[in-house]
Amino acid sequence: MSNLRINPDRLLHDFNALAQIGSTGDGGVHRPALSENHLAARRWLRQRILDSGLEFQQDAAGNHSAILRSPNPSARTLLLGSHLDSVPHGGRYDGALGVLAALEVVRTIRDANLELPVHLEAIDFTDEEGTLVGLLGSRALTGALTPEELANPRGGSQALRDGLSRAGLADPLRAVRAPESLAGFLEVHIEQGNRLNAGVADIGIVTALVGIGSFQLAFTGRADHAGTTPMHARRDAGLAAAEMIVRAQGLAVRAFPDCVINFGQAQFSPGAYNIVPERAELALEFRAPSQPELDALETALLDLAQTTAASLDISLAYTKQACVAPAPCAPQVQQAFAAACDDLGLIHIPLLSGAGHDTQALAAVCPAGMIFIPSTGGSHNPNEFAEWEACVNGANVLLGAVLKLEGEIGSMIYQS
Ligand code: HGY
Ligand code: MN
Ligand code: MN
Repeated sequence: MSNLRINPDRLLHDFNALAQIGSTGDGGVHRPALSENHLAARRWLRQRILDSGLEFQQDAAGNHSAILRSPNPSARTLLLGSHLDSVPHGGRYDGALGVLAALEVVRTIRDANLELPVHLEAIDFTDEEGTLVGLLGSRALTGALTPEELANPRGGSQALRDGLSRAGLADPLRAVRAPESLAGFLEVHIEQGNRLNAGVADIGIVTALVGIGSFQLAFTGRADHAGTTPMHARRDAGLAAAEMIVRAQGLAVRAFPDCVINFGQAQFSPGAYNIVPERAELALEFRAPSQPELDALETALLDLAQTTAASLDISLAYTKQACVAPAPCAPQVQQAFAAACDDLGLIHIPLLSGAGHDTQALAAVCPAGMIFIPSTGGSHNPNEFAEWEACVNGANVLLGAVLKLEGEIGSMIYQS
């Protein structure tokens, strides 16, 4: 059992400094991927890595890393990390805690002069939140990102071009790494719901992450005078969109109880008080714990959109956006997290992740896993909060798991 612990004051210093970058003044941050605020946070992280005396690396997708090399030059790399980008007006813990905890673990191991059979790399992945593409950095690194996704990004092509240009990035696809070079990936994250609250447990060990699908739906009717056109004579695209939202909610609750759907954006055009909407665009996202459920939900939602449009004499077009497969977490990584919790006297429970994370991208190519710490105030909003003791626990469990993987549990992982 290792008595090594992270330096909580150093971690707190970093956390408070980072939370100031893009701060919205109400406890949250506004750091959409490759925005000026996000670029400022990336510059800050790069400087912290250099100040820490660690090797800094940026890849073609803009992923930033702090690297502690193994004495074995042909060693594989164990990645630890998360993301610095946030949703618009989000919280200061989502992603940021995972990046800083990873950096702190690498510094702690370096300060202890431990030599590992792997290169240890704390990484900040670009655009986890999907402001531009979604899991852009992690899926570029694993080779899952496609030219088609870059050509048709869910955040818009101009936004992606502008963001990549601001960051000086040309072609994220060149960030791909050989899967055999990766020993694994570990992530610490806030739970973002309420399943760890009220003392249920100190740590959630993630067993699997849901799959996520997204579509842009476009309903097209006919622009008409909002005053002179009788209600029965309209081909109102806005009405079709509204019907779709209500019917889809009913479908999900009734027929897909383990799944969720969300319409996060709606645009009507031409967009005036006195014009019956000709066009209505909806951003649809849906999530399921298994691929068969995700596929069945996708089919049911598209069928519903078609029948809704037809019932109102409206035409429908839809474009598939980024989608991510459900991902199980590696058993030996889950075991390492559990053993680390036990050494620390922390109560842990298994949890499915209803949120998407970089872990599910990495799980496609190497043993990957993650833990949750309790958080309150929900997430993707400024009220997101975690007790500092819980943050320190998460970082120490991450440290413990790295050391466990070096030992008996991870022998499978560390076979060079
Ligand atoms: O949307 C998600 O589940 C994650 O926060 N990106
Ligand atoms: Mn996140
Ligand atoms: Mn998030």
